[in-house]
Amino acid sequence: MKSPDRPTDLDINRTGIFLSPLDGPATVEAARQSRPTSPGTEQELAELRRQFAEEAHPIGHMPPPLAVRAVLQEFKGLIHGHRYGVLLDKLGERLAFERTGVRLFDALIVKLEAQDTWDGGPTLETLVEFRGDEANHFTLIHEVLVHLGADPTVVTPSADLVGVESLGLLQTIADPRTTLAQSLHAQMIAELVDAAGWDQLCMLAGVVDQQPLAARFRAAHAQEVHHRDTVIAWLNRHAELAALGELKYSA
Ligand SMILES: [Fe+2]
Ligand SMILES: [Fe+2]
Repeated sequence: MKSPDRPTDLDINRTGIFLSPLDGPATVEAARQSRPTSPGTEQELAELRRQFAEEAHPIGHMPPPLAVRAVLQEFKGLIHGHRYGVLLDKLGERLAFERTGVRLFDALIVKLEAQDTWDGGPTLETLVEFRGDEANHFTLIHEVLVHLGADPTVVTPSADLVGVESLGLLQTIADPRTTLAQSLHAQMIAELVDAAGWDQLCMLAGVVDQQPLAARFRAAHAQEVHHRDTVIAWLNRHAELAALGELKYSA
């Protein structure tokens, strides 16, 4: 950050009620005395949610594979039962998340260039390297989906979900007001999800008895674990320097 102003510096913040010794207790009292603007109770709300959850249709379904005959030949065991559908759904999830991962690193690179790093913090070289890893992961999943006779442009149910889940991460990192460290906190969430997602794909490849796939997924998983641990180390170092008062104003 180029201005001598950091989020942890003391300045005006009016969110705390203790700031106003007179209006604070009055607000609490008014909240106690007021009644909800709509009828019903918490129990009734929970009951309504339960009814909706019981009656709602799924978010989406898996389409049948494009090349069913080809798949039958090569992956006879795969398409029996739910295994094929589960694997393709989760591959679709990772495809969507890895694409988002590239965009997250694009935004992080811009933020690093606009602001600054810290001792033991991210370098442009590392961010570019990690961005390249995410792009390679996307390409890997794309190749595997085509190989399995699936359409990589399909938004699978899990891909749909992960798109909604990651909205907050993109918003955090793309917000010009967030610092590089705050943006990396959002990236830490992405990397935790990435590592868990690839771990699950390794397991699923084993379930469908596709050992060559499992080996390729394990390599991607190892990279995600490296991303995750690196981002956590950057953030811990930033917090340490900030707490010790040794952080440069530029970071
Ligand atoms: Fe990735
Ligand atoms: Fe990653």
